[in-house]
Amino acid sequence: MLATVIARGTILEICYLFAGVTFILALKGLSNPRRARNGNFLAMLGMAVAIGATFFQPHLHHIWLIVIAMVIGSVIGIPTSRFVKMTAMPQLVAIFNGVGGGAAALVSITEFISHNPKEQATYVVLEVLLGVLIGTISFSGSAIAFVKLQELITGRPITYPGQKVVNALLALAAIGLIITVLITSSTALLWILLAVSFVIGIAVVLPIGGADVPVLISLLNALTGLAVAASGFTLGNDVLIIAGTLVGASGLLLTLMMCKAMGRSLPNILFSAFGSAVASSGGSGVERPVRSASAEDIGVMLSYASKVAIIPGYGLAVAQAQHTIRELADELEAKGIEVFYAIHPVAGRMPGHMNVLLAEANVPYEKLLEMDEANPQLSQCDVALVVGANDTVNPAAREPGSPISGMPIINADEAGSVIFLKRSMRPGFAGIDNELLYNEKTTLLFGDAKESLTKLVASVHAS
Ligand code: TAP
Repeated sequence: MLATVIARGTILEICYLFAGVTFILALKGLSNPRRARNGNFLAMLGMAVAIGATFFQPHLHHIWLIVIAMVIGSVIGIPTSRFVKMTAMPQLVAIFNGVGGGAAALVSITEFISHNPKEQATYVVLEVLLGVLIGTISFSGSAIAFVKLQELITGRPITYPGQKVVNALLALAAIGLIITVLITSSTALLWILLAVSFVIGIAVVLPIGGADVPVLISLLNALTGLAVAASGFTLGNDVLIIAGTLVGASGLLLTLMMCKAMGRSLPNILFSAFGSAVASSGGSGVERPVRSASAEDIGVMLSYASKVAIIPGYGLAVAQAQHTIRELADELEAKGIEVFYAIHPVAGRMPGHMNVLLAEANVPYEKLLEMDEANPQLSQCDVALVVGANDTVNPAAREPGSPISGMPIINADEAGSVIFLKRSMRPGFAGIDNELLYNEKTTLLFGDAKESLTKLVASVHAS
């Protein structure tokens, strides 16, 4: 009997170790577009093994309840993920992430209630309390991020006088409660900690502008990872510790990479209410002349080029024009014109947005050049074709004092001529004017990117 229990424990540990290794290899795979699909499959395999093995845990109760919960989760999760629009991906990630944080908090609460905290080592109770704090912040913060991105409430930063003081007091209250619960083991105070953590999640996210929310989601994702790792310590479950730590570390790295690509610091994103001030600075209200042309004229211009850089941005995703842009590139290449795509790290609204979009249209990976690789080539290009991008090519980033100062940009202005495909003179996400639109070498083709590209394909084909 004892031997059976030990053997079962060892097999479980081996399964969890296998799952942990697949998660690490999956992350490695996800770092490269070519291997990303395999990485995803590996992670799914590891997760399936970990879930399957968990059913063989000794002392597992309420198995039918677990199965019912899994069925409900799958019925909601699978169709939602399959049918989500690419532009709605950030809010989907937000809500899934929030559910993960909430689950980690529930595990911690259950542990606190079912094991007398007075009989536990202080560090074990601390893990439980941190699980409640971080998991709940992640849950309520992600819920607010979701409603902002889904535009159920305004995407603008919501601020009020004394907000920073209130937030600081909430943080102090949480720390005070954790210390008091550690000393008194009071369950009543645990519920108050839960409520305070819930309010902190909301309070921290409200002043963040909708466009900065993807960075915040990445940070909340890292927090969920930490909450899961804390649950792993509480339950003595290795795979939760490994998975939670991987999510925590990779989420934090991704957050910092996004901040760097936006030329802003994490505190600036979290506390500066970016978007409330700059939104009003966009557009001087004074009409300035710009040069626009017909699709036929621009088609001729493209046909006479020998090297073209395509610079995609958020508008390409909005217009769902990824297949049409590929058609245009094919037409140009058929004429012997060299074409590459210059990808800014924060083009669009989520990490890797352009890569995923263009991969959907089977654009060869080697044609997608990261910003550092693309920039030295821009001066050799006859045309920079900017499709639904704005901030990521805005030379204002090179000037001091602009809200996007310091953000590295794609040097579209170094190409022989610049063509913008956009619908109007409205600014991009940062809400500021783009001088490049008024540059003498710039030509605008107004309209939805997909419609404009369709006309360009016909025009290039005919010229
Ligand atoms: P934006 O600067 O936001 O510009 C998008 C442009 O697309 C707009 O000028 C808009 O002009 C145009 N557009 C929208 N719908 C269109 C359509 N259907 N057809 C044609 N044009 C359309 O985009 P970007 O250059 O990709 O820069 C991304 C911004 O998001 C950066 O400021 C970045 O910091 C921020 N951000 C990115 C991330 C990540 S991880 N990617 C996360 C947070 C924030 P019209 O309205 O005139 O058409």
